[in-house]
Amino acid sequence: MSLDLRDFLDEIDSLGLLRKVRSAHWEHEVGAIADHNVKRNKYTLLFDEFKDFPKGFRVLTGALVDSKRFALALGLPPTLTDMELVKLLKDNLASKPKTQKKYSAKFVDSAPLFENVMEGDEIDLYKFPTPKWFEGDGGRYIGTGDAVVTRDPEEGWINVGSYRMMIKDERTLSLFLEGPRHARFMIQKYWDRGEPAPIAVSFGHHPLIQLAAGLEVPSGVSEYDYAGTLAEKPYEVIKGPITGLPLPADSELAIEGYVYQERTSEGPFGEFMGYYSSGTTESPTVKVEAVYHRNDPIILGACVGKPPHDTVYFRCPMRAALIWDILGKAGIEGIKGVWCHPAGYSRAFTVVSVEQMFAGHARMAGYVACQCRPGAISGRYVVVVDEDIDPSNLDDVVWAMCSRSEPATGIEIIRGSLGTPLDPIGDHQSGKHILEYTSNRAIIFAVKPFARLLKGEFPRVVEPSPEVKARVLKKWSDIFAD
Ligand SMILES: Cc1cc2nc3c(=O)[nH]c(=O)nc-3n(C[C@H](O)[C@H](O)[C@H](O)COP(=O)(O)O)c2cc1C
Repeated sequence: MSLDLRDFLDEIDSLGLLRKVRSAHWEHEVGAIADHNVKRNKYTLLFDEFKDFPKGFRVLTGALVDSKRFALALGLPPTLTDMELVKLLKDNLASKPKTQKKYSAKFVDSAPLFENVMEGDEIDLYKFPTPKWFEGDGGRYIGTGDAVVTRDPEEGWINVGSYRMMIKDERTLSLFLEGPRHARFMIQKYWDRGEPAPIAVSFGHHPLIQLAAGLEVPSGVSEYDYAGTLAEKPYEVIKGPITGLPLPADSELAIEGYVYQERTSEGPFGEFMGYYSSGTTESPTVKVEAVYHRNDPIILGACVGKPPHDTVYFRCPMRAALIWDILGKAGIEGIKGVWCHPAGYSRAFTVVSVEQMFAGHARMAGYVACQCRPGAISGRYVVVVDEDIDPSNLDDVVWAMCSRSEPATGIEIIRGSLGTPLDPIGDHQSGKHILEYTSNRAIIFAVKPFARLLKGEFPRVVEPSPEVKARVLKKWSDIFAD
């Protein structure tokens, strides 16, 4: 399996899922086309031939919008279903020690990234066809599907996160960091010492890195190592000449620079919940010291707005696997499946299926799924269902909610959980610190009451036995062939 973005695009092309879009304008047109495309779950789009930009300077959207493309990014067959992917990730990948040496990032000595270098006065971030995605956006966002690399100055570990970055001028970017982000804590440590924080950012790379950088990978674990473990192949990186920070060796376009405490206005930006909730923010400033790019660079875009959008699907199986893994590590047995629904943008509608073994079992599962890091950030609803319910089947889940949850006793509210300024129903007082935001959660227990289950008193579900079902399906296979 190759971990080069261009090879990944060839694979997508061979499935008939890649389309080239020529002559779209970076201002509003790329966003409008990408948004319409993803809502029909269609193609991976490669935008080229922007007016006033060299031919070959490209923007990619829709890289990971379904199970086929997600599986390909991990080197898996594109035929796996959602729940097969989650189970596989959870069993074989997510529960492995993430720091397994054999899959740690591998440093290489050369990379096509350095085919073009801009330093000092030559630096001009406007040389690339960076989209202004939607009319309501406050500027051009070069960092959407990006990989922001920082180092913890005390512990030395490398973090890679996706955080939005807007172009402020030829040499300056803004960096938007929500509260509980690893990069925020690392950068603060440099500032506390009176130093600017070194930063390296890749704006185009194999989507495996996007997949790890956009998810709540445990603290102390580099997303490069995590991605390598997922793909069972070390991710190749190259040392940035200025900061020493590792950049993806297949990076298409990258910068190195420093993050300063000095604030700059950024936003509004159409966010993943589907709203312009946080308005204009005062965010840290990134001064760019060098820009590197391959010939004909590709910006990996993530066009975000009302779901479904580019960052919804890929985070569903990944987040579900992470939550399932944590439930297991918390000692909760009997979990039969976890799914994070795309309509809840992967974060706000999580379903956990459990085979209840004792009274209170469903509660243990619901509370841990709701409050663990990948489940807590921007969460809203967790639904716990029995083992006969497929968590990824919304009809089944809603049926269980309607027939097994008692509104007066089966819904529990947790107040004051981790919140975000991106929440459209959040409490947006001016001057509020980003770390102060809270929001509430509901856990819906759509499970058979355990006492009745134990006594065998819960009514049988109306359905044929597996034997009768198998017999009729075989006999009338012509009717049920597809
Ligand atoms: C495309 C994309 C864009 C994102 N933009 C931001 C952002 O602007 N700010 C932010 O704090 N988190 C953003 N996130 C969420 C973080 O990437 C995610 O929570 C990740 O876990 C952060 O890494 P960390 O856990 O190492 O801090 C984004 C995620 C994706 C997939």
